[in-house]
Amino acid sequence: MAEQNKKIILTGDRPTGRLHLGHYVGSLKRRVELQNSGEYDEINIMIADDQALTDNADNPQKIRDNIIEVALDYLSVGIDPSKSTIFLQSGVPALHALTFYYMNLVTTARLSRNPTVKSEIQMRGFDNEGLPAGFFTYPVSQAADITAFKATTVPAGEDQEPMLEQTREIVRKFNSTYGDVLVEPKILLPEAKAQLRLPGIDGKAKMSKSLGNCIYLSDDPETVKKQVMSMYTDPTHVNVADPGHVEGNMVFTYLDAFSRDEQFAEYLPDYSCLDEMKEHYAKGGLGDVKCKKFLIKVLEEMLTPIREERHNWEQRIPEVYEILREGTLKAAEKANETLEQVRTEMRIDYFKDGSIVKDWEEKFNN
Ligand code: TRP
Repeated sequence: MAEQNKKIILTGDRPTGRLHLGHYVGSLKRRVELQNSGEYDEINIMIADDQALTDNADNPQKIRDNIIEVALDYLSVGIDPSKSTIFLQSGVPALHALTFYYMNLVTTARLSRNPTVKSEIQMRGFDNEGLPAGFFTYPVSQAADITAFKATTVPAGEDQEPMLEQTREIVRKFNSTYGDVLVEPKILLPEAKAQLRLPGIDGKAKMSKSLGNCIYLSDDPETVKKQVMSMYTDPTHVNVADPGHVEGNMVFTYLDAFSRDEQFAEYLPDYSCLDEMKEHYAKGGLGDVKCKKFLIKVLEEMLTPIREERHNWEQRIPEVYEILREGTLKAAEKANETLEQVRTEMRIDYFKDGSIVKDWEEKFNN
């Protein structure tokens, strides 16, 4: 197939912790579906360990600890290394070279306007003086990640859209300044609106490790149960008979995201579907514990096979390491090709054919 018609995916995660349900609904599940759809010519999944250092410079050990962790999460949800290339960002030095060239195609003013970076700066409490340059410029490095693989498609959450816009701008600037080698990527958002961003069990905006409001894919059944039982529901729903609110009630938010109508027949035959259950809850007479018990069943049905897969891989760590090593070598090769093309277009590939010598010979011999 002609290189320019290929459908290529690049996506990834920072290895700063175990992956949780938010990652699962927001991206992992979709990646597996895309992988198994056979619609893509190439799927690259990057463990962004270098990007993770941009706000963890003081704690590289944390990143190191989470590389295999994230790889295990990938493998256990069904990312198949024979179909998808899983690799480590730090093993692909061409990404750094590309970043350095792209830096000159963006202004600091433009970077300052990136809404995702703005809110991340705030969240991390960096002030103007303490903001690491690497963190400030990570959208440029992300443009390098995406373009190195000539990715056409980046499956990611809506918070990544500003990164994609920045990437497209860099691509256009590069292609018009030097030559047409880079590809403009599109974001592929999660399908269901309700699942764009899963809130934490406390009802806070986002499931996030730092807020301690997560259910992890690798949590054991006891922990899952405990987390669901402590879930934020409806503070005005004091007695079972009271009318309850479904909106903003995490149990129903999670049921929206994870339950299927068929599961009622099996686990909660009082209702035929979620709408019926919601109606009863709103009217009054349905208690939180009953709802939570159903949610636990729903989550366990999904998590049990993931946990089993994970357990299998945990017994084969050298194999996991080998998968990462081979994926990284393959990724490095591909990124090197793009870097070569970029340097050729920029005419800075001095040692490739020695043509700079010819330039000077002509100068002196004529
Ligand atoms: N920014 C992503 C995250 O925080 C990780 C990432 C790095 C990424 N490079 C990427 C995602 C390129 C998509 C495309 O998890």
